[in-house]
Amino acid sequence: MKRIAMLGSGFIGRFYADSLQGQRSKDKIISIYSRREEAAKKFATDYQCDRYTTNLEEAIAHPDVDVVCISLPNHLHEEAVMLCCKHKKAVLTTKPLGRNAAEAKRMLLAVEEAGIFNGYLEDLVYTPKFLKSYESVKNGALGRILWAKSREAHPGPHSDWFWDIEKAGGGCILDLGCHCIEITRTYIGKDIKPIEVMCWADTQVKPIDAEDHSIGLIKYENGAMAQFEVSWTFRGGLDLRDEVMGTEGTIWVNNFLRTGLEMFTTGKGADYVAEKAESNTGWLFPVGDELNELGYNHMFAEMFNCMENGTSPRETFYDGYIVNAIIDAAYKSAKSKSWEPIQLDIWRGKTGLSKESHLIEHDKDHYLIKEEMTHYGTKKLILKNKQTGKIIEKVIE
Ligand SMILES: NC(=O)c1ccc[n+]([C@@H]2O[C@H](COP(=O)([O-])OP(=O)(O)OC[C@H]3O[C@@H](n4cnc5c(N)ncnc54)[C@H](O)[C@@H]3O)[C@@H](O)[C@H]2O)c1
Repeated sequence: MKRIAMLGSGFIGRFYADSLQGQRSKDKIISIYSRREEAAKKFATDYQCDRYTTNLEEAIAHPDVDVVCISLPNHLHEEAVMLCCKHKKAVLTTKPLGRNAAEAKRMLLAVEEAGIFNGYLEDLVYTPKFLKSYESVKNGALGRILWAKSREAHPGPHSDWFWDIEKAGGGCILDLGCHCIEITRTYIGKDIKPIEVMCWADTQVKPIDAEDHSIGLIKYENGAMAQFEVSWTFRGGLDLRDEVMGTEGTIWVNNFLRTGLEMFTTGKGADYVAEKAESNTGWLFPVGDELNELGYNHMFAEMFNCMENGTSPRETFYDGYIVNAIIDAAYKSAKSKSWEPIQLDIWRGKTGLSKESHLIEHDKDHYLIKEEMTHYGTKKLILKNKQTGKIIEKVIE
């Protein structure tokens, strides 16, 4: 059993607590830190924690605490991580790791220097649908991955600090794009170096300094392309969709609004439907098991198993740092309106890759471009002559 100090009793702190203690879980939140005493006390009552406090260091340093789970606003991640290093506590941090790559790099170096377990809580690469899709990608069912796209859009976050660019560090690119970037990066291969970003961002609706809408492209060293689409102005709930395209196959994932459970109600007795649902009447898309479908259960299971086995989880502070570095380049590109290089002071994957060959051999003189069975029963082969470059059609009756 691991004894956990939860920092933050808000939206994600409660989702995490529901996941950690929801089923017959063996780990226990023994202490809760929150800014306001009433909020800390309420959380301690709801989750049967032994103690609550409004003192950050006290929560981390307590000798009974094995693991610290950071569920605080973005501007407080670094301070909390540094205290975990000081008191040598295993640390799990929600996304984004930092407000920028400089913060993330300092946190990464500090946890490694302190020799403490570090996990980056990117739940969306632990959803059952993601895990199944990713297994297929790894098994080669999609061939070479050419393009991966991820979209996260909702009507905007639920607390004041998100809308304050100083505290949050950015708008929807940082808040939602961090998920999309790690999803697409994992499909493409985490050892493949992301090299440059082209990004459009705008503040289309909200009276804020940060962007509320953005689309970005991330180019990888092997020629693969990732795409993110994010919005804090989308109407209709939480739109979470991914697409992967490879030389041998395609995957489409709809994580939230169309999960196969659809319901109509006039509103009688209607209550909470799902995260960011904008209505509780009419046709609704409830989510069967939100904790599981958002990946929290699989994520914590992996994190705590790795902690016990002395191994590294799939998502560490290193991954959080790479994501922050990609986001920094996206912000630069949105300003410069051109492709911007991704500055990676720390890179532990492959280097020097080039675009893989796309030529398919047909015979000694030709490459195959396309093969198709027609509706009138003949098979057509489109071929390219290797010497002359001439494109011909071969019909097989
Ligand atoms: N799916 C996800 O992984 C996911 C989802 C939502 C939020 N998050 C992340 O979790 C972190 C917290 O977000 P949240 O949605 O739980 O926020 P929230 O506003 O609901 O809760 C924030 C908590 O931090 C405490 N706090 C301490 N000092 C504070 C301060 N100066 N200002 C505001 N709150 C302060 C509050 O008391 C509260 O308990 C953020 O980094 C956010 O990006 C992750």
